[in-house]
Amino acid sequence: MTNEQSSPAPEIENLMAEGRAFPPPPAFVAQANAKADLYLEADDDYEAFWARLARERLTWRTPFKRTLEWDAPFAKWFTGGTLNVTENCVDRHVAAGLGDKVAYHWVGEPGDTRTITYADLLREVQQAANALLELGVRTGDRVAIYMPMIPELPIAMLACARIGAAHTVVFGGFSAEALAGRIEDAQAKLIITADGGWRRGKPVDLKTAADEAAAQSPTVEHILVVRRLGDALPASMTPGRDVWWHDIVTRQVADCPPVPVDSEHLLYILYTSGTTAKPKGIVHTSAGYLLGTSVTHEMVFDIKPDDVYWCAADIGWVTGHSYIVYGPLANATTGVLYEGAPDTPGWDRWWQIVEDYKVTVLYMAPTAIRAFMKQGEALPAARDLSSLRLLGSVGEPINPEAWLWYHLNIGRERCPIVDTWWQTETGQILISPLPGVTETKPGSATFPLPGISADVVDSNGDSVPLGQGGYLVLKRPWPAMLRGIYGDPDRYRATYWGRFPGMYFAGDGAKRDTDGYFWLLGRVDDVMNVAGHRISTIEVESALVDHPAVAEAAVVGKEDPVTGQAIFAFCTVRADVETSDELAHELREHVAKVIGPIARPRYLLFTPDLPKTRSGKIMRRLLRDVAEGRALGDTTTLADQGVVETIRAGAGRADEE
Ligand code: WT7
Repeated sequence: MTNEQSSPAPEIENLMAEGRAFPPPPAFVAQANAKADLYLEADDDYEAFWARLARERLTWRTPFKRTLEWDAPFAKWFTGGTLNVTENCVDRHVAAGLGDKVAYHWVGEPGDTRTITYADLLREVQQAANALLELGVRTGDRVAIYMPMIPELPIAMLACARIGAAHTVVFGGFSAEALAGRIEDAQAKLIITADGGWRRGKPVDLKTAADEAAAQSPTVEHILVVRRLGDALPASMTPGRDVWWHDIVTRQVADCPPVPVDSEHLLYILYTSGTTAKPKGIVHTSAGYLLGTSVTHEMVFDIKPDDVYWCAADIGWVTGHSYIVYGPLANATTGVLYEGAPDTPGWDRWWQIVEDYKVTVLYMAPTAIRAFMKQGEALPAARDLSSLRLLGSVGEPINPEAWLWYHLNIGRERCPIVDTWWQTETGQILISPLPGVTETKPGSATFPLPGISADVVDSNGDSVPLGQGGYLVLKRPWPAMLRGIYGDPDRYRATYWGRFPGMYFAGDGAKRDTDGYFWLLGRVDDVMNVAGHRISTIEVESALVDHPAVAEAAVVGKEDPVTGQAIFAFCTVRADVETSDELAHELREHVAKVIGPIARPRYLLFTPDLPKTRSGKIMRRLLRDVAEGRALGDTTTLADQGVVETIRAGAGRADEE
């Protein structure tokens, strides 16, 4: 992927030209948690490696009997064991005298703040868990959570885990329909939401969408609502169904014993986009997930007791589940939780937060780095970022220019950068440098972590020689791996294990260089990566054809200097429909209504026809060439060669938002 928009700054250009590698700074090596011998230990016997960590790091109610039962592709880790995830994330830290330690420094977008200690968390999680019980939620039930980034969000997740109920968190940028689809699939009994949240200085309504979703969802018995906006956006409450958090939670006793659950008990479902119109409910279970996230959090981010760690993702995505909530809390980490956008009130908001809270470890997405690059060096330079000691990147390939900008302007050439590759499905980071051990190369996620077996294979599933590209696969199970797709074991097997028998196919292209470094090359399927958000082309297409004016639609990801990819929709309208800018606007609104604002196409082009093969398959590859203004690839399989030329001639007229 190339994201160079203009030519890079001279300093960055020199570093890129050198093709430099960055050895870990000696001062960092001296104190690093991770040591190179972890690779040897794990290679020697990966099950024994994870078993040792599981015994040392987790607090068990019943010790596990077997480390791994691998009935491929179905894994069970730490069988026979029982534990409670919240006991591991909260109670044991308070019992160890860390009650006054800060769990989260919360920063609201308008500038309000809250400090939540581990003792506060223990009290509030127990109260919230008791409220769930009062609302009829029981062990094994599912709860949908649709909330802004406020402290009650992790508290709600932990309250579920405390009583052995599973959560399914739905990102606030998804629509009522998307929420309803997930509730239906998970058969959720309760929705936990808020009246709304703050985004770019404006109140964003969530309750209305929750109401609309509940109206379509017969399983939903109650809606539990946090008051975040209050008078800024009064919410309507349905008597008997809706309850305010401050009414029901606050009056509960702060005593709700954690329910010990089996290692493989369902912890959560998180929906993610794949290559079909229906999102997949990715299943994560308790012990293996907690181990995988907490071990990697400590190893990859070199977490020490005094760190102030900030993962600037939204909890609505897996990054937040694993590296804002479960991993960091299991490690008794102090974290920052920020509600708002990076540009509000100004583009130096994040650097101000780093300065104010003396953040030591910062984890964010390349799309944010590129957005900051556009604003120039002066903003971070004006802030004291000297507390930072380690930087992370996640969500998409990081182009070397962005890597070097991050290194120079944020890390001030002092901080190792960990480019972490993983997925909703993998639950935990799988490919990443170990800071203090690995020499990094800008743009490479470097090597699989200890215990992880990754490879790059050709279309027959054979390992390709170093220096060549192919498909990224994983060859051994790992503790936080998905246990399946909720309610659909066949789809799980076919999607992930069907392409290359015996191997997990990630959906990404990758290359290993002659030193064996892994370079991620982006998705090889119909999944787009827009500002680090995973969006399916097919899902956007079906939302478009769901509109009465549209006969046919094809969607591709167009390379974009800031967001990685931007959504480009080609639409053919029905014979009696006139195209217009108003219609383009209406179609975007329709996509926002069906999926959510995050899926609005940036570019929309009305076309008389779409390029198809003789068997009627839309050739998205050619449309991508058109969208990106490239020469057309092979067109010999097209049924009608003229169509794509016509589209190309009109491509400049695409409506851009
Ligand atoms: C897809 C997974 C993992 C949390 C956020 C995204 C891409 C993720 C990297 C990286 C290159 C990356 C892949 C992957 N991706 N991290 N460091 N380098 N690509 O989770 O929404 O499940 O998306 O994100 O394409 O398959 P997700």
